[in-house]
Amino acid sequence: MSIVVTGASGRLGRLTVEALLRRGVPASDVVATGRDVARIKDLADLGVVVRRADFADPDGLAAAFEGADKLLLISTTTVDERVANHRRAIDAAVAAGVSLVAYTSMSHADTATTILAATHRATEEYLRERPVPSVLLRNSWYLENYTDQLPLVLRGGAVVGAAGRGRISAAARADYAEAAAVVLTTEGHAGQVYELGGDEAFTLAGLAEAISAATGKRITCTDLPAAEFARVLTGAGLPAGLADVLADADLGMSRDELFTASGDLRRLIGRPATPLADAIADALR
Ligand SMILES: NC(=O)c1ccc[n+]([C@@H]2O[C@H](COP(=O)([O-])OP(=O)(O)OC[C@H]3O[C@@H](n4cnc5c(N)ncnc54)[C@H](OP(=O)(O)O)[C@@H]3O)[C@@H](O)[C@H]2O)c1
Repeated sequence: MSIVVTGASGRLGRLTVEALLRRGVPASDVVATGRDVARIKDLADLGVVVRRADFADPDGLAAAFEGADKLLLISTTTVDERVANHRRAIDAAVAAGVSLVAYTSMSHADTATTILAATHRATEEYLRERPVPSVLLRNSWYLENYTDQLPLVLRGGAVVGAAGRGRISAAARADYAEAAAVVLTTEGHAGQVYELGGDEAFTLAGLAEAISAATGKRITCTDLPAAEFARVLTGAGLPAGLADVLADADLGMSRDELFTASGDLRRLIGRPATPLADAIADALR
């Protein structure tokens, strides 16, 4: 049984490979792929099969996915090229004869209104129409999107965003990775749609309160109109296109589009998801 993980040179993919190994999958049954395989040389040293896979290069994908039984398709980073890239990866998975494609989508991708959700919806629809069993792992936001920003927030004394009072079911990458590993190593997931997120949703104001509690510093929450938030992000050095996508994602959050109370994540991983307070405490260590 060979399990292919795409995007293994990235953070979620690497964590998923590690979770598969922890679950007892022999390293030689795990195929870790990415464009920049130098980043996963250490996985090859553990016996994991490392192959280059660039979704822009369909010919290379046939070799990368050869012999795959199950495949985890981790969504790619470049929003504009995402759908075309995902289609090529799905076509290659079908051609390789996989028995299951698991796709890391986004919360409520079928109904959410954001730019990001549209790319996931298009991928989900394409996957559904292909002759291959599939399972959707609709991930909410990463807790790390916030904990990585802690130094900035502490310097500025404020959480800044455009998510209003929207509830955000963010969860740790490692928890999403563990859920993916469970889906890839147990039966009964074909056709399922999992809405994955943390157990305790929070608003941006709640995030500011949690950071205040963890640090003893007064952190406020500044809620801006989306266009203004995008300007703050470009001012902080983000490219304009990415700033617009992130501000648009915050608008989606204001409509609870990254909120879920499904309990799917904790059910799959068999334990509570990592709480926000623990993630903040870890990041501050
Ligand atoms: N839920 C959230 O909050 C959230 C936030 C940000 C992103 N995401 C989505 O979740 C995905 C995984 O997150 P992450 O944190 O692991 O991201 P990451 O660390 O940036 O990893 C992205 C991975 O995608 C691979 N990739 C990019 N373009 C590719 C292409 N054309 N063909 C093949 N592989 C390609 C990269 O390969 P190389 O490194 O080898 O180039 C890398 O392995 C992201 O790609 C994005 O779609 C979700």
